[in-house]
Amino acid sequence: MSTIIVTGSAGFIGFHVAKALLDRGDIVIGLDDFNPYYDPQLKVARDEILKKESNFLSINVDISDLAPLEILFRNYNPSIVCHLAAQAGVRYSLINPYAYQKSNLEGFVNLIELSKQHSVDRFVYASSSSVYGGNTKLPYSEDDPVETPVSLYAATKRSNELIAYTYTHLWNMQTIGLRFFTVYGPWGRPDMAYWSFLEAMRYGEPIKVFNYGRNRRDFTYIDDVTKGVLSALTVDKLDKYEIINLGNNQPVELMDFIESLEDLSGLKAIKEMVDAQPGDVVATFASIDRASSKLGFKPSTSLKEGLLPFIRWYEDQSILVQSVRDFRLSKS
Ligand SMILES: NC(=O)c1ccc[n+]([C@@H]2O[C@H](COP(=O)([O-])OP(=O)(O)OC[C@H]3O[C@@H](n4cnc5c(N)ncnc54)[C@H](O)[C@@H]3O)[C@@H](O)[C@H]2O)c1
Repeated sequence: MSTIIVTGSAGFIGFHVAKALLDRGDIVIGLDDFNPYYDPQLKVARDEILKKESNFLSINVDISDLAPLEILFRNYNPSIVCHLAAQAGVRYSLINPYAYQKSNLEGFVNLIELSKQHSVDRFVYASSSSVYGGNTKLPYSEDDPVETPVSLYAATKRSNELIAYTYTHLWNMQTIGLRFFTVYGPWGRPDMAYWSFLEAMRYGEPIKVFNYGRNRRDFTYIDDVTKGVLSALTVDKLDKYEIINLGNNQPVELMDFIESLEDLSGLKAIKEMVDAQPGDVVATFASIDRASSKLGFKPSTSLKEGLLPFIRWYEDQSILVQSVRDFRLSKS
């Protein structure tokens, strides 16, 4: 049993990771600021589930605010930090760069510096497939050069990896960066295509198919990702500095993805074929050799197998998903 700080615990991946850690008996200190990038009701609903567990403590804090974090680290003395809080989203980074500066750069330095000061055993953090930027060599391997991020979001994630490298180099601190690839599933993210497409199909609204449907994404199911993160938090044989892809190793074309959504939901998509968006990459495709050998990572969920529980969850949560929609419409 360890005391683990999970940042972004009210977020999609943080919620699932925190739940899995609680289920195996760890003490989890969950940090989140419940910000309105998407409907905070969804974050509150995830947090309510976690709060049912006696070994969970939920703390509403902005990670770019150092003073309360100092008190938290002093009071709870975590042995592991799982840093998943970030301003996510590629497209939003073109509109609101400062949110990325605050959460992904200032917040990251606060967390890694406090982890160093308190000698945590391991600092695991979320990176992203977006660091591969305009790379054309597929699948993406951790040894590929990643010096050409094509969005500010990607640049902040790559910066996190470089900062982590420095902390390992200077302080011999163990830092493990996980590059996630389009994670999806129940309790997911409303700003991502699997959610927004399903919502549009339900309301008979057109969906924008960027790059004429030619983009490919390595959709990775949340349960597979959660297992990978738990391994990264616990397995022994990791080096002091690691960067590891957590993808599905099976990229799917956007048009095939839409077809699967249609088949499984019984709804029709009205497709509006449009140009690629600035900041988007054409394909993501993870080599998972390293994850497999170091973490025993073996994603076992095909896109169809994973979309079905998401669609069922979405249908069961009619009040919550309506709130998410109303929230988004009220902002636009
Ligand atoms: N979901 C994916 O497909 C994907 C892909 C690549 C990388 N990632 C990364 O994985 C991590 C988790 O992503 P997610 O999909 O769960 O996103 P999410 O937006 O659902 O979760 C992030 C959480 O962090 C919180 N947060 C953001 N800024 C904060 C701040 N300043 N202080 C405190 N809390 C803050 C948010 O409120 C949110 O609950 C992020 O670092 C993201 O960049 C996700």
